[in-house]
Amino acid sequence: MRALFYVFTGTGNTKKVAERLAEEWRALGHEADVALIRAGSEYPDAAAYDLLAIGYPVHAFNAPAPVLAFCKKMPRSAKKPVYFFKTSGEPVTMNDASVILPRRILKRRGYDVRGEFHFVMPYNIIFRHSDEMAARMWRDAELLAARYAREMSEGARNKKGVNVFKRMAAFTLRIEHTAMPVIGHRFKPTEACVGCGACEKKCPQGNISMKDGKPFFAHSCAGCMACAFSCPKDALKISLLNGWRVNGAYSFAGVPADDGQVCKYCRKAYLRYFHRAEEKTES
Ligand SMILES: Cc1cc2nc3c(=O)[nH]c(=O)nc-3n(C[C@H](O)[C@H](O)[C@H](O)COP(=O)(O)O)c2cc1C
Repeated sequence: MRALFYVFTGTGNTKKVAERLAEEWRALGHEADVALIRAGSEYPDAAAYDLLAIGYPVHAFNAPAPVLAFCKKMPRSAKKPVYFFKTSGEPVTMNDASVILPRRILKRRGYDVRGEFHFVMPYNIIFRHSDEMAARMWRDAELLAARYAREMSEGARNKKGVNVFKRMAAFTLRIEHTAMPVIGHRFKPTEACVGCGACEKKCPQGNISMKDGKPFFAHSCAGCMACAFSCPKDALKISLLNGWRVNGAYSFAGVPADDGQVCKYCRKAYLRYFHRAEEKTES
C-alpha cells in the first residue's frame, strides 16, 4: 500500500513524527512519501496513493490555518482513506478538538476519515521542556509510531469524543487564525540579528523577506514559531508573544526523564500519557 504523509510543521516536531511514521510504514512492507505543507509547494499526485495521512501541530487547541486551507484545496475523492496525526506540547484531551474542523472539511470532500493519532512533543512556545522530558516524549513517540502505523495498515478506526465545552473553547480560540497575521506582521529583529536569513528559509508561509539585510514580516504569519525558534542568535522579538518565546532545537538523544523528573506543568496528564504509551506498546 502506498501512503502519502502531508505535514505542516513550524519547528520540526511534526515532521520528525511524520518521518518516523513513514519509516514504520515502510517496515510493514508498504511504500511511503512525506510532503511538507508549505506556501508555493508542488505536491505529489494524491491519486497515486492508497492512503493519506495529514499531520499538524496543535495551535491554540486548533489545527493551524494553513492546514485548514490545504484541506479545503484537496481534490474531491471517492472515499480515499485518511488519518490525521497531531503533535502538541500538552497531553490534555482539549487538544482533540483540533481535528473537528479538518475532519469535517475532508468528509465533505468525500474522504473516508478513519481516525486520528496524537503525539506529545516538546513545547515551542510558552516554556521550554527539559531535554530529559523531550527524550522521554521522543522515546514514547517512537513506540506509538510503530503501533499507529500498524493500526493504519489494518484499517483501524477511531474517533475521540469532544464535549461541548471543549468545542466551544476551541471555537473561541480560533481567533488565533485572524490574530496571528496581525501579530506576526509586528515581529522584529533585534540588534543581535546578523541577517543570516535562517528565518526566511524556515518560514513555511513564505512570510519573511530580507530587506537591507534584515527580515521583514508580511501578513501571512501562521504563528508556527519557526523563525524565533530557529534563529541562531535568538534575535527576534515576537511582539505580544515575546515573553513566551522559545529558542533553539531540543536534543532528543539524551536520557529520558523518569517519572520523578516529569515537569510539574500538567504533571498528572504527562504521566498518564507516558504510562499509556508505554503500556499500550508493550501489550
Ligand atoms: C501558536 C502556538 C499555539 C500552541 N498551542 C498549543 C495548544 O493549544 N496545546 C498544546 O498542547 N500545544 C500547543 N502548542 C505547542 C505545539 O503544538 C507543539 O510544540 C508542537 O509539537 C510543535 O510542532 P512543530 O514543531 O511541528 O511546529 C502551540 C504552539 C504554538 C506555536
